[in-house]
Amino acid sequence: MAQRRRGTPIVIAHRGASGYLPEHTLAAYATAVFQGADFIEPDLVMTRDGQLIARHDNRLDATTDVARRPEFAHRRATREVDGQRLTGWFSEDFTLAEIRSLRAVERLPQLRPGNARFDGQFPVPVLEEILALRHALEGVVGRPIGVYPETKHPTHFRERGLPMEERLVQILHAHGLEDSQRVYLQSFEVTGLQRLRRLTRIPLIQLLAATGQPHDVAATGGTLTYAQMATSAGLHQIARYADGVGPDKSLLIPRDASGRLDSGRATAFVADAHRAGLAVHPYTFRAENGFLPANHRLGDDPAALGDLAGELAAFLALGIDGFFTDQPGLGAQIRDIARDP
Ligand code: G3P
Ligand code: CA
Repeated sequence: MAQRRRGTPIVIAHRGASGYLPEHTLAAYATAVFQGADFIEPDLVMTRDGQLIARHDNRLDATTDVARRPEFAHRRATREVDGQRLTGWFSEDFTLAEIRSLRAVERLPQLRPGNARFDGQFPVPVLEEILALRHALEGVVGRPIGVYPETKHPTHFRERGLPMEERLVQILHAHGLEDSQRVYLQSFEVTGLQRLRRLTRIPLIQLLAATGQPHDVAATGGTLTYAQMATSAGLHQIARYADGVGPDKSLLIPRDASGRLDSGRATAFVADAHRAGLAVHPYTFRAENGFLPANHRLGDDPAALGDLAGELAAFLALGIDGFFTDQPGLGAQIRDIARDP
């Protein structure tokens, strides 16, 4: 099987090919691989019976039909999640069997009406199914396919007797997944990654938001911010437990006051991270005008595709090691052209 070329930025299918299909469905992951993704990205949350399922967050309302299911009406609840008071249906209140009766729906139906045509078609996948799909697809496409799970709300789940990291590592090891050709683990929280470091040699990625603090730091009264973590000193601290960072892309090139992207505003982030020995995988590259910098939009329709190539080329030129994208086919083409014009 062909190995991935060393030094080639990896294309990480953000929630699958989520520009084309409802996010976090097996169909979205498979489409991503056929489009050319190197990695598929499941965000993971837990069920009441301790299973790891793929959803962006533990509130199920925006990406499943749970709100339209009368048998679950009584499960609607209000609770604090990562410091925010939320009302809705939460994964930790459902068994896997109950989750399996739900169907995925498109999160952004206004922006992605084509995706919404698939509403009601696909179940919510459990991690083991995603790993089986990964293995099968690798055999079909004849190149390494990786999985890049993110632990969502790990402190929230641990406080409810649902520890994520131990279960996640147990499953990945049982599937023989340990090296960076085929797996990375990521989280916005710090203590969960440090716990993972003690459990496994799987490469770890510290996610960095543009603002704020990791939830686990805030919850214990800590003062460390993402801005501090993104400095040279902060990155050296991260390198003590992680192998790379997944920064909000604005930490690499902040847009100007009118929302334009200008490479001249690039920060030292990539060089600083590389000096600390960390890989850099920024998020999230999306092709619709509504997400693009003002000078890379093509027309006024926020749902129409704009100049993703122009935006992504500016980041590839900084020497990033990979990137998260909702349109992995476009991402792979742009990456390949940048490498071999
Ligand atoms: O994990 C990288 C990126 O996906 C982080 O943002 O909110 O889409 O999980 P989110
Ligand atoms: Ca994610």
